[in-house]
Amino acid sequence: MAHTRHGDDLYPEGEDLPDVSGVSFDHEGKDGRKVGFLWGVATSSYQVEGEILSNDWSVFSRSGFVRDKVDSIAKLAKISINLEDPGKAVDHWNLKVFGDDVRRTKSLGLNAYRLSIEWSRIQPAGPSQPGSDGSGFDMDAISHYSRMLDLLDEAGLEPIVTLSHFTLPKWVLTPPTTLLDAEDADFKKSLGGWCSKSTVDAFVNYVKCISGEFKNRIKYWLTINEPMSSVAFGYLAGIWSPGFMGAEDRAKTVIFNLIDAHARAYDAIKQVAGSGSMVGMAHGMVFPKVKTENDILGVNRKATAQYDYCFNKVFLEAITDGIFNPTLMLENKDCRIVEHWKGRLDFVGLNYYRSVYIYQNELISLVVPWAGGVFDEDLGSAGARHNLLNDLGWEVYPAGLYRLLKYLDDRFGLPILITENGFAEKTDTSRGSEAPIGMRAPYVVSHACEVLHAIKDGVDVLGYLYWSIVDNWEWDYDYMPKSRFGLFNVDRESKGKGPLPRVKTLGAEALEYIARHGKIGNAAEKFGTITPSGTALLPPK
Ligand code: BGC
Repeated sequence: MAHTRHGDDLYPEGEDLPDVSGVSFDHEGKDGRKVGFLWGVATSSYQVEGEILSNDWSVFSRSGFVRDKVDSIAKLAKISINLEDPGKAVDHWNLKVFGDDVRRTKSLGLNAYRLSIEWSRIQPAGPSQPGSDGSGFDMDAISHYSRMLDLLDEAGLEPIVTLSHFTLPKWVLTPPTTLLDAEDADFKKSLGGWCSKSTVDAFVNYVKCISGEFKNRIKYWLTINEPMSSVAFGYLAGIWSPGFMGAEDRAKTVIFNLIDAHARAYDAIKQVAGSGSMVGMAHGMVFPKVKTENDILGVNRKATAQYDYCFNKVFLEAITDGIFNPTLMLENKDCRIVEHWKGRLDFVGLNYYRSVYIYQNELISLVVPWAGGVFDEDLGSAGARHNLLNDLGWEVYPAGLYRLLKYLDDRFGLPILITENGFAEKTDTSRGSEAPIGMRAPYVVSHACEVLHAIKDGVDVLGYLYWSIVDNWEWDYDYMPKSRFGLFNVDRESKGKGPLPRVKTLGAEALEYIARHGKIGNAAEKFGTITPSGTALLPPK
């Protein structure tokens, strides 16, 4: 049992970092094939494109009723949330602006780019509406995405495409904007979102269309981004679309429908785009530490184990081994195998940012026992003990990346693509000797070291995608400066005409240095690093 500073955890192995100076990111995979490491950035349509008005979030973030409700929840939970519409976002629907950010990505020596296709653009009004092929698919939107793929191709960037990144078309889900959701007319008129089987059918239909259109151009597909986050925030916490709170039954239905949607989308892509396609999903994992302060009778340990099982493991176990656990409880013995879920994953996409301290909450254990415990979102304002934090109060834990990679490898034996990892920072303070040392560059260096640590230990890591190329719109914080994740900062105050100016951060330079070297080289000396445990920042020399 490894002991981290302020909490225990449940994963094997400690946090020593061996010498990784001789290890290359390009490596030999388990089956002897050569892995040319993918270095890239990640984005999602709603957060970057701008002016998307036909999805559930555009209703959610514009409704006064919803905003008041989210405000009250945030006050109660003592967290700061700012729900606003993204407006023009960073204008990636504009091919000129998108193209410039693609060139920025290329200029860093990277070779991959993750973007998502917005279903609500592809099928804005549903299948029954007239479309050029009679199924409501908007051919102009499809051509537009095709142009975006051209730009990636011209820049020599491997496209990694997400088919659903948190949003649904309005006709699939119009979140309730009145008190009684059961009587909300627009909600009732929509398919009702992931609660309903018709949403799964509609999703598979859309996936067939996209995989048919782009089969020769995309190798890496991600069906769904962080399905379990949608459940946690949209059906339990009430702060994301559709905004249900403690909706235990609905949340459970949604989990199984999302699993089914992934498995069926997997089959559809393989069928339409061919067996050479690599199909995965982006699985969000936090590193779960047990909150040990005041853990009377070890209840926090139990809550952590259940949280970890439910949010980190259930989904992956379903789409690899076909395990269907109807209770979602760790101790349930009533699991069955669903054949058509089995073996539906070619690689694991891992979104990893941080560690959290989990504790039992009486209300949650009563209403949603399978969710396990809860954690403080912002450790800075929670007054609890912690290691280094980003500006959102998320704890940095580089060794957590290694330990999760190792777990995933031991448990599933599949290649792993790091589909997101990144650091939110108000200002890039890394420049100039007077300024305090910023943490984005050390964050990148320390996490890259842990990737090498995993590769050294035989884990087949396909690549590393940093979230994100530029600061963009955040689900809970809109454009609040503390939620800037970009390798290039975006100056939103700029009054000039044309695209919002982008400014390169030192994080970008660190990533560029490592990607170009293909090894860690002198990155720690040049840019600084963070200790594997996340307890100290080691400044550049
Ligand atoms: C999501 C992104 C988000 C990022 C930072 C991930 O969970 O996939 O959409 O911007 O976290 O909050």
